[in-house]
Amino acid sequence: MSQRPYIVGNWKMNGSRAMLSEARAVDRAAQRYPDVEIALAPPFPFLGSVREAVTAIGVGGQDCHTAAKGAHTGDVSAAMLADIGADFVILGHSERRRDHGEDDALVRAKAEAALAAGLGVIICVGETLEERDAGTAEAVVSRQIEGSVPAGESAAVAASRLAVAYEPVWAIGTGRVAAVEDVIAMHVAVRVRLAAIFGEEAEKIRILYGGSVNGENAASLLAAPGVGGALVGGASLTADAFLPIVAAAA
Ligand code: G3H
Repeated sequence: MSQRPYIVGNWKMNGSRAMLSEARAVDRAAQRYPDVEIALAPPFPFLGSVREAVTAIGVGGQDCHTAAKGAHTGDVSAAMLADIGADFVILGHSERRRDHGEDDALVRAKAEAALAAGLGVIICVGETLEERDAGTAEAVVSRQIEGSVPAGESAAVAASRLAVAYEPVWAIGTGRVAAVEDVIAMHVAVRVRLAAIFGEEAEKIRILYGGSVNGENAASLLAAPGVGGALVGGASLTADAFLPIVAAAA
């Protein structure tokens, strides 16, 4: 990954084949924003079609298994994602931690598998509202970083293919965006933990903000020191909503 701002649309479990037209529209517009790295993460059934429909933007999965293949009904391996031309995978999203009981150790194992398959990895971390109100947000996120980042990887691999998305759980899909000063503080906390693991190369790891990012609030969030991009959910589902966020990053 380069150090351009990284704007990633996570379609989550939304969409249909009709949304290929949205992906194509984002791809066409990407030519206007060469200084922004743009990517979409569609649901698995549409991943291959989106991959074939776009050329200027990255395409990634929303999860992968720890194993390369085997008897794991319903799962998808990192090797399969790489085989269909995916560039990256989102791991440890709070919705997977919530819906599938994923813990830090599992996220780390998935990240190791994804990096071994040659993919980029976006590891998601973030505190709940209860944790923020209790004043433990930084401690929670630091613990998630320590537990889920593949510390055994070389700093060079981490610098080139690892990103972290700080997504306060209470800001996801709620319309309640984190205050810029809190985003800055949390990104500093993430950077400190990454530096403890990878040393100076950690400076190159992009830390994205996620949680109710839209065309109106993107500019102030993306201008905040340490914010290297955005992981966008709801506002990534149409090109009309997503492209103003890309423009704000340019
Ligand atoms: O992966 C994306 C994040 O969970 C943010 O979702 O933009 O709908 O709040 P949202």
